[in-house]
This record gives sequence, C-alpha cells and structure tokens, in this order.
Amino acid sequence: MTLDMTHPSIADLARRARRRVPRFVWEYLDSGTGADTATAANRAALDRIRLVPKPLAGPVDPQLETALLGVDYALPVGIAPVGMSGLIWPGAEVTLAKAAARARVPYCLSTVAAATPETVGRHTGGMGWFQLYPPGDPDIRRDLLDRARGAGFHTLVLTADVPVASRRERLRRAGITNPMKITPRIFLDCALHPEWALTMLGYGKPRLVTLEKYADVQTDRPGTAHVGYLLRTAPDADYVKALRDLWPGKLVVKGVLDPAAARGLGALGVDAVWVSNHGGRQFDAAPAAIDALPLVREAVGPEMPVLFDGGIASGTDILRALALGADFTFVGRAPHYGLAAFGARGAAHVFDIFRASLEADMGQMGLARPADAATRCAL
Ligand SMILES: Cc1cc2nc3c(=O)[nH]c(=O)nc-3n(C[C@H](O)[C@H](O)[C@H](O)COP(=O)(O)O)c2cc1C
Repeated sequence: MTLDMTHPSIADLARRARRRVPRFVWEYLDSGTGADTATAANRAALDRIRLVPKPLAGPVDPQLETALLGVDYALPVGIAPVGMSGLIWPGAEVTLAKAAARARVPYCLSTVAAATPETVGRHTGGMGWFQLYPPGDPDIRRDLLDRARGAGFHTLVLTADVPVASRRERLRRAGITNPMKITPRIFLDCALHPEWALTMLGYGKPRLVTLEKYADVQTDRPGTAHVGYLLRTAPDADYVKALRDLWPGKLVVKGVLDPAAARGLGALGVDAVWVSNHGGRQFDAAPAAIDALPLVREAVGPEMPVLFDGGIASGTDILRALALGADFTFVGRAPHYGLAAFGARGAAHVFDIFRASLEADMGQMGLARPADAATRCAL
C-alpha cells in the first residue's frame, strides 16, 4: 500500500511521528509557549476561513509553479527554518534540504541547526535560504553571512520575533535542560524509542555546529549558557540596514504581525515580509498569523512580496493564505512530522500531499494558478 493510502494527511504523519520519537523530542517539535493558545489559534483561525468554490468554471488545468524573489518554485510552499532539526530525526537538515531540492521548493536552514551551511549547502540544488538569529558581534555577523553565501544560500531571512527567549513550559516539564543534559529520565525516554536512539547513535549527539566556531567569543550575557542565545541580539532598524549593506542577495524579515512595522520595511531595503508568530512558540498572546496577514498585506501594498507561516497542514491551508494576501507559504512542523514518521520518504510525501490537495482545491475553485486565489472570495 502506498503512503497516500495509509497516511493521506499531515495529521496521519504527525500521529506516527509522535510514536517514533522520544517524548522530550515530540514536546520540542510540537509545543508552543505558555498555554499553547497561539499555536492553537493558528489552526483554529485557518479553519474559520471559507473559500467560495466557483461553479461553471469549465475544466481547469492547475499549474502550481510559483515565482518568488526571482526564483521559480514548483509549489507555493517551502520549509521554514527549524532549529535543531537533527534532534527531531538524525540528519534532518540534509534530508530535508534534499527533499526540498527534489520537490523544487525553498529550504531555509536555521542558524541554530544541527548541521552547518557548508554541509547543507551542497544539497540545496539552488533552493537554499539561510535564516539568521542576529549575532551582536559584527565580526561574527559578517563571517556567518560570508559562510552562508559561500555555501550557496541566496536568500537571507532575519528572524525578528525572538528578541528574548520564551518560556516554553512544555519543554521544562519534559525535562529538557539548556544546554541539554542526558538525565536518567531522558535516557529512559530514548531507550523506549530504539529506532530513533540507534539512528542517533550513528550521527552523534546533535549540537549547534554552525555556532561552535564562535563559542569562545566573549559576550555581555554571562547568565545564559546556550551558545545560541549568547550570540543573539534583539535587532532594530539599524541592524536591518547593516544587513542590507552586507548581503547582496534577497533579504526577508520573518516574524512580522504588526502592520505599522511591516510598512517601514521596504524603505530599509527589505525584499519581502514574512508574516509569522513563530508557530506560537514565542508569545502566547500573539494573534493567529492568518488573522494578521490581510492587515500586513494592506499595510505594505500590492508590490511587496508577503510570505506566511503558522499552522499550514494542507493545500487547502495554502490557498487560504494566498486568498488573504500571501504570495508564498512555509511549513515548520509538517515536514518534520513526515521525516520522523517515515524518513526521507515521509518528507517527500508531505510535498505530495500539498501538491495533490492544491490540485483538488484549485479544481473546486476554478483556479489555473495558486496566485489566482487572491481574486476569489474568502468568508
Ligand atoms: C521545533 C521548531 C524550531 C524552530 N526553530 C526556528 C528557528 O531556528 N528559526 C526561526 O526563525 N524559526 C524557527 N521556528 C519557527 C518556524 O520557522 C515557523 O515559523 C513555524 O514552525 C511555522 O508554524 P508551523 O510549524 O505551524 O508550520 C521553529 C519552529 C519549530 C516547530
């Protein structure tokens, strides 16, 4: 039986992924922050959006190719940056980069990944984006950008919604410490998930390898043990301008929900705005990302590309986002559910699900191209 028969939706993959990884890993992947209301709101608000089907549209032949920032992608959905992907399933960064290259969709590598840009860049097939948690030290910043560029990543994403760490109470309850310690409880959790544990043994404990080069750099935040947090700063408009001067490729700012802030980004040289509440992981009172999307679109006007993530689990959701003003969408958890459920085959299946569901729904809506969703009625 094919995966499409046994696991036709992202929720099916998530259920299997949950069984295959240790509990603390599942909590890392799935959780939000606080009471997880922002994560839940992302899903609930998507479900509330109804798209009006078009009768008598005649036959349509949906073409899913979507151009964004000068590149033609096969689908209007890419893989969002996920820190420590390699904890969720060993080797995740390279496996997902390869899956994205094969599906011809963007793969955005996180600064706090378990694989370096040098390692992953070889596998991106021109689909590579690099996400920056902004280093305070200008020398580290320059070096990191040079490394990403040199490794073939053409689009830079500055994450703007992590000015400080969030509480992530579920991680605390699951016994995850920072830096990670293998306590007896974590050890037992791993032993109870032998496939994950044995594969992980082959790869070694995942680390913030990209940042290790800078680990001995002095910082003014001695209370924080995690090298990732040691290096980050809370960026402002001057930081964006500095990035614009340093980065010759496209520049995207991720984590924007505030229309007024979005409006100012074009003047700083930003090429696209990414509407996101970080999958609900940073601020539990944040609005659902999809509720902020039309306001941001209105604020930036029709010319500025607007990207979207938060809760997407089907082609239907992708069309909801495009109908409300997005040009392109991203998924964080979904490809990791596929990967943890079935390895590389599961990651590829996630994009098959998106493709099939886009085609089915575009047929209902009489759309020849995903972008035409913007012309249709959303209630
Ligand atoms: C486990 C995990 C780790 C993440 N790490 C990062 C990160 O390193 N950088 C970043 O900009 N966003 C990070 N995000 C947020 C995602 O890029 C994305 O905004 C979010 O997952 C979208 O919501 P979705 O998971 O519902 O698709 C992370 C999300 C998850 C689930």
